[in-house]
Amino acid sequence: HADDGYRLWLKYDLINDIPRRTAYARSAQFIAANKPSPVLQSAVTELQTGLQGLLGKAVPVVAQSGSRTGGIVLTVAPSGADVQGLNDEGYRIVRRQNNIVISAKTDAGALYGAFALLRHLQTGQPIDQVSLTSNPKVKLRMLNHWDNPNGAIERGYAGGTLWKWYELPETVDPRYRDYARANASLGINGTVVNNVNASPRLLTGEYLQKVAALANVFRPYGIKVYLSVYFAAPKTLGGLKTSDPLDPQVRQWWADKVNEIHRYIPDFGGFLVKANSEGEPGPQDYGRTHADGANMLAAAMKPYSGLVIWRAFVYKADPKADRFKAAHEEFTPLDGQFDPKVIVQVKNGPIDFQPREPFSPLFGNMPKTPLGIEFQITQEYLGFATHTVYEAPLFKECLEADTYVNGKGSTVAKVVDGSVHGYRNAGPTQTLMAGVANTGSDRNWTGNPLAQANWYAFGRLAWDHTLSSDAIANEWTRMTLTSEPQAVKRITNLLLKSRDIYVDYNTPLGLSRPWTGVHFAPEPWQNNSSRPDWTAVYYHRADSVGLGFDRTPTGSNALAQYRPEVRRQWENPETCPLPYLLWFHHVPWTKPLSSGRTLWNELCTRFYTGADSVQWMRREWAQVKSAVDPALFADVSGRLDTQYKEALWWRDAWVLYLQTFARQPIPAPFKKPD
Ligand code: GCU
Repeated sequence: HADDGYRLWLKYDLINDIPRRTAYARSAQFIAANKPSPVLQSAVTELQTGLQGLLGKAVPVVAQSGSRTGGIVLTVAPSGADVQGLNDEGYRIVRRQNNIVISAKTDAGALYGAFALLRHLQTGQPIDQVSLTSNPKVKLRMLNHWDNPNGAIERGYAGGTLWKWYELPETVDPRYRDYARANASLGINGTVVNNVNASPRLLTGEYLQKVAALANVFRPYGIKVYLSVYFAAPKTLGGLKTSDPLDPQVRQWWADKVNEIHRYIPDFGGFLVKANSEGEPGPQDYGRTHADGANMLAAAMKPYSGLVIWRAFVYKADPKADRFKAAHEEFTPLDGQFDPKVIVQVKNGPIDFQPREPFSPLFGNMPKTPLGIEFQITQEYLGFATHTVYEAPLFKECLEADTYVNGKGSTVAKVVDGSVHGYRNAGPTQTLMAGVANTGSDRNWTGNPLAQANWYAFGRLAWDHTLSSDAIANEWTRMTLTSEPQAVKRITNLLLKSRDIYVDYNTPLGLSRPWTGVHFAPEPWQNNSSRPDWTAVYYHRADSVGLGFDRTPTGSNALAQYRPEVRRQWENPETCPLPYLLWFHHVPWTKPLSSGRTLWNELCTRFYTGADSVQWMRREWAQVKSAVDPALFADVSGRLDTQYKEALWWRDAWVLYLQTFARQPIPAPFKKPD
């Protein structure tokens, strides 16, 4: 049937290669599970569904394998040789006595093992010598939905919210289960269902019932539900005079609220909090600190396993300050003051999910506080749902960046997974990777079908940050689009190049662009808004001399927030790598760069070749026509056409605007009209 994208990477289409299908079928004659818990039942059901599709026949389920061979055996045991070296959610898949044995310490581990086995078959791997062992490197692998009770999604580009609040809790859309399956297939084990700019309504009994209905669907897939909270809820919902975190009545209000939540959702995951950020209320409204606020919520959560995830995305409405420095300035003095239940969630870059940012200088600089990382999967600054931008290279660039806090090799990934500072041994503290979801009510979940790869890549990297962008793209393509080898190669290559192409026509050389509004249209001239710092000029600093934000000692000196080894890479404009140049330096238009071109010529070259490369993307996509579903092919083709039009728009807006400062001609090769 025509592929509408609904099934994501869990396609399970019949394997056409008959020898391979026969070999798989010989090894999958039955499924045995030794303990029928709800999570294990999900594993069994998924194996049944998957094998039915891939092999074209039903595979029976038995309680005990007994002496039978030629089947798949799921075993869960807290200890023993089979699970040696596994952590709580890890799995091992081996061949034993002519069975395929999936072992894990917990039911969740077995569920992840079942999905791994299916992935193994979906990507055409040999079954005879199968031997896979995998442990998640990070404990909390989470989606953050910026969904509002009115059904809209902040920065969502694939329709409205998935959660049908007005039908819940009575009507439970079967789609919630498919959402859970997709996440569990990647190892995602938590979901924050509402926007960080949180409505207090989510904390009312009316909404808690609805959230509980979602939690009931997600639980058998190992997924816990979390809520974003509005810090001033004691006032707005509770009718108290204050929301001061040190006020006894306020503390009691939260303790009661947490008890109430647990009556609806006994295994509630915890709170996510955006406080004193972009106009949201917070503890600073009462002269208290982020730690006071977070610890108050942690105290309320004390009787339970739930956590408090406190965001470090803060900056002031001060056009003289450097927003880059704000989180480090506010949070590092609080290191050591947070309750063990608190995790501080830090965006990958210091500003705001730009197409390319240096890593946040908070990573590595709060050794006593578990720092989770927050990536943005939804393409707020990456062309919404029309531009194809595969994000794994962006995620990896940050994860592999070296903070040098404990010498060479102290990568951001190792700060986040706890290996640099040993969070793992810090009692109840946890390690966390979160992604702002790109899902919505569109039939294909993500609007642009190729954006499914970003959800996939986030999940796979949250499980194992050492996987390569290439391997993930290849795996996703084969599970989702086609197994035809040439097409797989072409699509993988297109995905891998897509982010640099976007950066070239959107924000080359470390240009930065957050400003007011919908964050889509190019408006580098935008210079007035509700806040003095929400202007384009604040970020890119174009003037008659040059372009870029001086963050060296002659400017804001944000570079001082990094270790000397990192600083040395970036502080000298002669040697600073070009992708980061304008993040740290105000560079004269006529200055020759390491490429041999002047800044102005290099900018023009990037804008023009970047936009031109979208033509290349269209040509490459045209080549895979016969290998992918026709409706999906047409959908992506149309989006690439739009992307090209918009790339020209970005290019021309930037070039013509910057030209008013640079006062130089557009270099000859690019001058000709389109
Ligand atoms: C960005 C985004 C906002 C969001 C904010 C946040 O600024 O544009 O919509 O609320 O990030 O992460 O809190």
